[in-house]
Amino acid sequence: MSVHSEVKRVTTHTLQKMKDRGEKISMLTAYDYSFTKIFDEAGIDILLIGDSASNVIAGHETTLPITLDQMIFLASSVVRGAQRCFVICDLPFGTYQGNSKEALNSSIRIMKESGAHAVKLEGGAEVCESIARIVSAGIPVMGHLGLTPQSIYQFGTYSVRAKEEEEAELLIRNAHAVQDAGAFALVLEKIPATLGKRVAEELKIPVIGIGAGMHVDGQVLVMHDMLGITKDFSPRFLRRYLNLYDDIKKAAGQYISDIKSKDFPNEQEQY
Ligand code: KIV
Repeated sequence: MSVHSEVKRVTTHTLQKMKDRGEKISMLTAYDYSFTKIFDEAGIDILLIGDSASNVIAGHETTLPITLDQMIFLASSVVRGAQRCFVICDLPFGTYQGNSKEALNSSIRIMKESGAHAVKLEGGAEVCESIARIVSAGIPVMGHLGLTPQSIYQFGTYSVRAKEEEEAELLIRNAHAVQDAGAFALVLEKIPATLGKRVAEELKIPVIGIGAGMHVDGQVLVMHDMLGITKDFSPRFLRRYLNLYDDIKKAAGQYISDIKSKDFPNEQEQY
């Protein structure tokens, strides 16, 4: 946002106040300028350049292959389209797990080169030193617990997490640790609604859910899922607001047939 802009930017303080007064927080993923402009004008509170870009943009099976340079390119495109919303960029796999210095350096690159307002990383106690170090450099950090796709090969499946008491208690301890390390917010992915409720009630910071039930402080979905661009992904938590896959395919088919039939371009569509 330019210093002269009249739009009031969403900040970490805005988000905290929303939690404090019980106003739900809206969040979506975005990966480019054009969709960002639409979501921002619609009034979204947070846009996340998720490493889900590895799946929905690059076509990889997991989030692991996407690189820091690729995330920075996508994030800088989103930043240029975002006037009002708060923009968070995922730290991709392999750019922060080594040690807290690596985590800080990767975060600084994201902030300097993309203009994003915060970073997100996955994990609990094991990443708290990194969270504290990034936050101490003035960079807001969002945590991510529950289903953490960067650890897919450790878990083996994308099934609901923390259904058993022991794993639920560990998640609660990790959520407190992430908050205590200085994170301004936490994403909880694919966990029982009762556990989401308990974490949101116990933590002071906003808790945003994706498949974590109705009692958390806000919701996030991957834009391609919410708009129905992805077709074969239908978890229970997903509400599709459009069926763009079918609509775009139909439009492309019509365009192709208009060219073949010499209907396009017509007299009015040429110079
Ligand atoms: O990468 C992503 O899109 C995410 C959201 C699912 C929260 O982390």
